Amino acid sequence: MQILNGKATAQAIIDLLKIEVAQLMSRGAPVPHLAAILVGTNGASETYVASKVKACNEVGFKSTLIRMEEDISELKLLELVRELNNDPDVDGILVQLPLPAHISSEEIINTIDAGKDVDGFHPVNVGRMVQGQPTFVPATPYGIMLMLEHYKIDTASKHAVVIGRSNIVGRPMSILLSAATNPGNCTVTICHSGTKNLKEICQTADIIVAALGRPGFIKEDMVKEGAVVIDVGITRVTDATKKSGYRISGDVDYASVAHKTSYITPVPGGVGPMTIAALMKNTFKACAMKHYD
Ligand code: GUN
Repeated sequence: MQILNGKATAQAIIDLLKIEVAQLMSRGAPVPHLAAILVGTNGASETYVASKVKACNEVGFKSTLIRMEEDISELKLLELVRELNNDPDVDGILVQLPLPAHISSEEIINTIDAGKDVDGFHPVNVGRMVQGQPTFVPATPYGIMLMLEHYKIDTASKHAVVIGRSNIVGRPMSILLSAATNPGNCTVTICHSGTKNLKEICQTADIIVAALGRPGFIKEDMVKEGAVVIDVGITRVTDATKKSGYRISGDVDYASVAHKTSYITPVPGGVGPMTIAALMKNTFKACAMKHYD
């Protein structure tokens, strides 16, 4: 069993980007600029956005965090997105999800300029990804693909079971793993809350991507000997022994599952840092597309 070290792999990507940014600066070229919008005060979203801004600082990107009150109207938020679309100094725009219930995420995402959509959520970018065209690939599945590539994990013709069908992780993950690429070329089964015989399906998986948001859901008896297990779960679970009052729990019962796997991602330190690194790569690409195409 080998632990897939997301922290170290992400750091290697960040270090490469640092060099590329230094090269841009030495030529007097503008450095990538990410604008992040955070609506309300959701604790988890605050943490994720803070990590994204921190990574921008580390790589040498410019970043702007725009905080909006929970009760901002959809119209006002759309106006802000349009302003950022039209701002020549901004390369990448991300609106942290989830948004409050009175705002349509779909409307907001559809309004982001597809060329600045570093989350890869805009329908144009999703369509391009499905067709295998160059695009912004959503950061979490992109980070997982980068990790599989980094560890040279053989995925060709393997049975990948993706649990979760969200637009952020499960759906794009299933598309990327089934694409005629390396990594990729998998036979993919996408499962969700309505799937029957989930345990039996998982038992046939060479690769499991767990992205359902249920702490410890994947148990030892669901995993085949030698499987690759990728844990996307990052649920806050109450824990009185922690100063914060909670700990982060993955979707995989790591203690019982790890010994059966060939590779497994830990939580924390697995997929999370890779997601941030992938977002940084997308932001660099957004800038490069704008200035050098
Ligand atoms: N919420 C959870 N994951 C993501 C992500 O990758 N991007 C955005 N914008 N919001 C999220």
